[in-house]
Amino acid sequence: MTQTEFDAWSAGKSYEHYMGRWSRKIATRFIDWVDPPANLAWLEIGCGSGALTAAVLSQASSSSILSTDRSNDFVAHAKGEFMDERAVFQVADATALPCPDASVDVVTSGLVFNFIPDTQIALAEMRRVLRPGGMAAFYVWDYPGGGMGFIDAFWKAATEIDPNAANLDESARFPFCQPEGLTKLCAEAGAKVTVSATEAETRFADFDAFWHPFTLGAGPAPAYLQSLSRHRRQRLKDYLATKLGETGAVSMPARAWAVKAQWPAADS
Ligand SMILES: C[S@@+](CC[C@H](N)C(=O)[O-])C[C@H]1O[C@@H](n2cnc3c(N)ncnc32)[C@H](O)[C@@H]1O
Repeated sequence: MTQTEFDAWSAGKSYEHYMGRWSRKIATRFIDWVDPPANLAWLEIGCGSGALTAAVLSQASSSSILSTDRSNDFVAHAKGEFMDERAVFQVADATALPCPDASVDVVTSGLVFNFIPDTQIALAEMRRVLRPGGMAAFYVWDYPGGGMGFIDAFWKAATEIDPNAANLDESARFPFCQPEGLTKLCAEAGAKVTVSATEAETRFADFDAFWHPFTLGAGPAPAYLQSLSRHRRQRLKDYLATKLGETGAVSMPARAWAVKAQWPAADS
């Protein structure tokens, strides 16, 4: 399997348990940092199970949000979660946004940008749909800095047992998920950028609570685990349990880099 084939994004409920619940924590801190005025028209890329959608509606008091994802499963799941007439859900890829030119005040995304194969096309699309003075605001996990602690612990253990896992590890796949890399990508797209750390904590009651989400199949690490034989899965579980301790709570950092990007008015 190729790296991207392990990016198994489906099954909203499994995703929610694996990642959505942590993404929700970061989403609220992200909106605090963005601090947008109310009543803006938002477009979201890669809404998943709707963690950031919820924060935009409740905290940012948007006038509307068009939440998109390229996964049919996620869009169907998210549609069923929201009873807010300001929110519309649609299947769409980041590289072909379903909006007219200059029609949106804020383009946002949570934990998506690194999974888009051509980030420059995605940035050009964000720029195209933004009104003059509009803003792209998004966040990604600090994978290279070990900022998504439970995923980092998983890949470190997996790679120690199976060197082939190394090229699936998000910290190796997405080296640009750091302030310098994100600033460079946005600058190449002609945008002025501000980057800030947004932090939370992931806390699991015990090792089993830590391990269970990896068994649900949604996301790169769970997809890798699913690809292993039963024997190799058990070996990885035992190895991680030894490293982390089988009893007691497991606490790890969840750090994202949040980005605000704007294009000069004359170029918009
Ligand atoms: C890690 S999940 C984040 C979901 C949600 N935003 C959150 O914060 O929990 C990544 C999401 O990006 C979506 N995605 C990946 N590549 C995409 C692309 N090229 N265009 C649109 N969505 C994409 C996936 O389907 C998945 O829902």
